[in-house]
Amino acid sequence: MSIANKADYQNFTLLSYHHIPSVHHLEIFEEAGGYEMMKKCFTLDPEKIKEEVKNSGLRGRGGAGFPTGVKWGFFSKDRNQRKYLLCNADESEPGTFKDRYLLEINPHILVEGMIISAFALGTQRGYIYIRGEFYEQAMILEKAVKDAYKRGYLGKNILGSGFDFELVVHRGAGAYICGEETGLISSLEGQKGRPKLKPPFPAIKGYRGLPTIVNNVETLAAVPWIMRCGAAAYKKWGTEKSPGTKLFSISGDVNRPGVFELPLGIPLIEVIEKHCEGVREGNKLKAVIPGGSSAPIFTAEIAKEVRMDYEDIAQKGSMLGSGAIIVLDETRSIPDILKWTLEFYHHESCGQCTPCREGTGWMEKIFKRAEQGEGKLSDIELLDKVAFNMRGRTICALSDAAAMPTQGIIKAFRGELESYIKIQMKNR
Ligand SMILES: Cc1cc2nc3c(=O)[nH]c(=O)nc-3n(C[C@H](O)[C@H](O)[C@H](O)COP(=O)(O)O)c2cc1C
Ligand code: SF4
Repeated sequence: MSIANKADYQNFTLLSYHHIPSVHHLEIFEEAGGYEMMKKCFTLDPEKIKEEVKNSGLRGRGGAGFPTGVKWGFFSKDRNQRKYLLCNADESEPGTFKDRYLLEINPHILVEGMIISAFALGTQRGYIYIRGEFYEQAMILEKAVKDAYKRGYLGKNILGSGFDFELVVHRGAGAYICGEETGLISSLEGQKGRPKLKPPFPAIKGYRGLPTIVNNVETLAAVPWIMRCGAAAYKKWGTEKSPGTKLFSISGDVNRPGVFELPLGIPLIEVIEKHCEGVREGNKLKAVIPGGSSAPIFTAEIAKEVRMDYEDIAQKGSMLGSGAIIVLDETRSIPDILKWTLEFYHHESCGQCTPCREGTGWMEKIFKRAEQGEGKLSDIELLDKVAFNMRGRTICALSDAAAMPTQGIIKAFRGELESYIKIQMKNR
């Protein structure tokens, strides 16, 4: 898998150890300076750590981009209360493969990030909920956790600091909905992975009804660097409202797909042309999905103008999401993209909410009818209406995640959808 060239990424945060062979071994990670920041943090006031993370402006990398320091601020400060830190390693959004990559090469960066975060938050127990299909990564992570225990970095009275932290790796079973934080909590509790209504948010009432912070792998892995180099250094990258660097998973029709750590705010076209070495076979760019399958699609024209930060993407009608960039060249069929998207969300809906359960099914049916040549042009309006009625009315955001890309495709590629329906009718 490709990464931005060495000179670039060595200066960055998350991939800064990736050039070191076998850095997944504890000794090698330590030789490179790993766990030093953890030791230093045990001598600091936990409130100072939280303050530094808040000042860095780090935003959650799981999709919503919620400021991490603000989320941590909602958490109980009582260090004697039982509470939890959960790491979301479910990485279920189609197009996203950055967490898996990070864990595979450097699992200790997450373990160190979790220990520092747990110390700051005063939690004594943590879980890493990892996607069921990530067998290899789960094995690497389990070994890393085991080695950290042996070295005295986990468990009781860590390095004589008086701080206890027990960390468990828990494997999921491969349901998209278990990436949603309350679905993840239900699954970890041994129930069906069904989301729960918010509020109360997990920070107040989460795992086993107790205060729980849920953060993405990339979010927690950024903490040691922020503590080592400081909030001000972190903010040198990115924009005022989207500071720092981000891991982008880039797939589709580019010459050099892979995971790249790049500053937020970078122009999308620079990502494609410079880091991914252009559209494959010299083809023309047709469209880009900028933030995973839930993000509305951009036409090539918009893709050439947009900057990869939370604000600019939102202002142009989509979202940064998990940072999964899917590049589509002129040979791609937009109706195919819509079909796969609709099939996926219908399959993954947990079925608790009527707009999501029925809406995802109806949208798929409407599309499949058109595919069979039995559609009408007015089906585009019908799809748009169904999608509209699925938004903002459900327990979790999966319903919106299915509706938004559908409406995005209708808005950006209506002409191609109309031609498709007509051609299918003719070929019937
Ligand atoms: C349907 C759905 C799927 C999600 N999947 C993931 C996921 O795979 N990984 C993840 O970290 N967050 C995922 N999220 C976001 C989580 O609910 C949660 O916001 C995130 O883990 C919080 O961590 P952060 O603040 O570090 O981003 C998903 C959300 C929804 C609505
Ligand atoms: S929106 Fe969909 S996935 Fe989320 S709880 Fe409701 S039915 Fe389940």
